[in-house]
Amino acid sequence: MSVPLLDLRRQYAPLKKQFLAAFEEIADSQALILGPRTEAFERAVAEYCGVPHAVGCASGTDAQLMLLMALGVGPGDVVVTTPYTFFATAGCVARLGATPVFVDIDPATFNIDVAKLADTLNRTANVKAIIPVHLFGQCADLAAILALGKTHGVPVLEDAAQALGARHPLGHAGTLGEAGWFSFYPTKNLGAFGDAGMVVCHDGALAAKLRALRNHGMEPRYFHPMIGGNFRIDAIQSAVLHIKLPHLDTWSAGRRDRAAFYRREIERAGLLAHLALPVESWPGGELRHIYNQFIVRTPRRDDLRAHLTARGIGTEIYYPLPLHQQECFAHLGYKAGDFPESERAAAETLALPIFPELTEAEQNEVVEGLRSFFA
Ligand SMILES: Cc1ncc(COP(=O)(O)O)c(C=O)c1O
Repeated sequence: MSVPLLDLRRQYAPLKKQFLAAFEEIADSQALILGPRTEAFERAVAEYCGVPHAVGCASGTDAQLMLLMALGVGPGDVVVTTPYTFFATAGCVARLGATPVFVDIDPATFNIDVAKLADTLNRTANVKAIIPVHLFGQCADLAAILALGKTHGVPVLEDAAQALGARHPLGHAGTLGEAGWFSFYPTKNLGAFGDAGMVVCHDGALAAKLRALRNHGMEPRYFHPMIGGNFRIDAIQSAVLHIKLPHLDTWSAGRRDRAAFYRREIERAGLLAHLALPVESWPGGELRHIYNQFIVRTPRRDDLRAHLTARGIGTEIYYPLPLHQQECFAHLGYKAGDFPESERAAAETLALPIFPELTEAEQNEVVEGLRSFFA
């Protein structure tokens, strides 16, 4: 039996009629970009997260980019984040001429190490923002990070691209700092039929600026008090996401159940001496970790992956090369060994199949694949 890393068709099938009805209505209306579908979806996400403002846009990357533009991040500014994340987190900073400064991760959670963050903030000038990334669907240590932001007078912007629906003990991922953003890339817990993203924030003036920036800084029509871009979201993506949103918590709970199954069966198979499993920062809390990915780690990662691939089991490596070692960031002057935990994670971690429709038989197949490798 082969096991896919992710099969989106299984989520699509039961909602197909609703999607097709929405597509027909949008096609008939020819209201294709932004408009009432987007406004309704924005209101729904704002209500879901408990924030006053949500601004939809074309991707998680554009969400971050327009937010940094709104805050005036540019040349001479520093933005502090981790090197063990998707490229966009630092790429958006660099695109604006600002400098990403990296801080290593906590190896247990893969999120920013707050002691090292404190140290970096103490010795770094011109810090314009701190960006914790809630990697794989679990929040970084926001209580400590928000306190550091306050001490240093620096806003905390949450990269919640992978974490819509994850709850920190203080509240929803993305809503606890100055602003946060989500990606609706199809592999996310809430995925569009293409690219889409969103910023959430508390400040109405910031939200208004974001709405202008996503449309070339235009306000009113054909007058441009500022320079923005085309970061607009389509009506079709808004409709798809709005149809899916009421299911999000059930889907995330389904991912948690599958994570619990892996934990139980991997332990039962006697594999805990070989494989490290995800660590939950706040055990017991419902939806504290929403398992956008279920990450195991072993120094034999590459051989394990080849073994699982040969058995037809889908896996992925998030991410094989930390950002400080990327060619395009060579000018930042980092070298191998600067962020040892990020480098070790990049060499040792492997994502196993996890999605709400994954069957018990498929999960048993994955565990048998792991067992037969280490036997
Ligand atoms: C941590 C993180 N940040 C940012 C992004 C960018 O989102 P998008 O792919 O929607 O542009 C992603 C998406 O993969 C992500 O995982």
